[in-house]
Amino acid sequence: MKVTKAVIPAAGLGTRVLPATKAMPKEMLTIVDKPAIQYIVEEAVNSGITDILIITNRGKGIIEDHFDRAPELEDRLIASGKNDVYDEIVSISKLANIYFVRQKETKGLGHAVNCARSFVGNEPFAVLYGDDVIIGDDPACGQLIRAYEKYGKAAVGIKAVPEDQIFKYSSLKVDHLEDNLYSCTDMIEKPKTKEAVLSLFSILGRCVLTPDIFDILDNTPPGAGGEIQLTDAMRTLAQSVGIIGVDYTGKRYDMGDKLGTLQATVEIALRNPKLGEPFRNYLKGIVADL
Ligand code: UTP
Repeated sequence: MKVTKAVIPAAGLGTRVLPATKAMPKEMLTIVDKPAIQYIVEEAVNSGITDILIITNRGKGIIEDHFDRAPELEDRLIASGKNDVYDEIVSISKLANIYFVRQKETKGLGHAVNCARSFVGNEPFAVLYGDDVIIGDDPACGQLIRAYEKYGKAAVGIKAVPEDQIFKYSSLKVDHLEDNLYSCTDMIEKPKTKEAVLSLFSILGRCVLTPDIFDILDNTPPGAGGEIQLTDAMRTLAQSVGIIGVDYTGKRYDMGDKLGTLQATVEIALRNPKLGEPFRNYLKGIVADL
């Protein structure tokens, strides 16, 4: 079945990027001239997704405003002859059919994804973590969809993480299949000891899930950090039918981390057609004095 639906969980508290996220959702943190979540929606659309559910909570209303029309602003842009900006602003509201639902309590990523049950129905669907921006020529979400279509199994985006950091992430048991594809048969969220580490491959930012995940989530107790972990539910799938791990191409920026937000700003600005050149010259000037 074709994957046309995506879920973007964006209801986390963003405690690692405070105070920026005291009143503003971390998914709205700006990278150059767009909020992080717009890059993520664009990646989904470029992967063939037509319907997107964004999981929000209290205080995240500006995410809805960003993907809505803005008549007063649009009128002003037309009146002042700024037609290019007008086109760009209007196109944001036409990217996809975007829906919103609230996660009423912040009980973890697994709990957030479970809020998507009635939107998803009985179809496979993509999950794009709302604080992970991935930039690349071949959209990461699309790479996972292709793996799902080829093997008929759920697919997770994976990357090797440094040994001293695996304790902050999930750790996957994998066997190489072909090219950048792996068969994953077990996983653990935030391993506590060296012995519990299955490999340095971790799930980072994206997955394509089958709808049987919802019944599994219903029966998943709180795990690491007292939260209902998506990894714990995916583990059941991995152990029973197996999951495909996709070591996707593209650079991931963690917008839930202060250093990650700085890396995103610098690297994405350098790629910007208008700002890239003057920004590169500016950086060369200050790097000389570091
Ligand atoms: P994180 O664990 O990075 O989000 O979840 P967080 O809770 O905001 O992080 P801290 O407070 O800085 O440690 C990854 C993604 O899952 C969403 C987040 O918004 C983020 O996009 N999430 C997390 C939810 O939607 N609901 C939750 O209950 C937890």
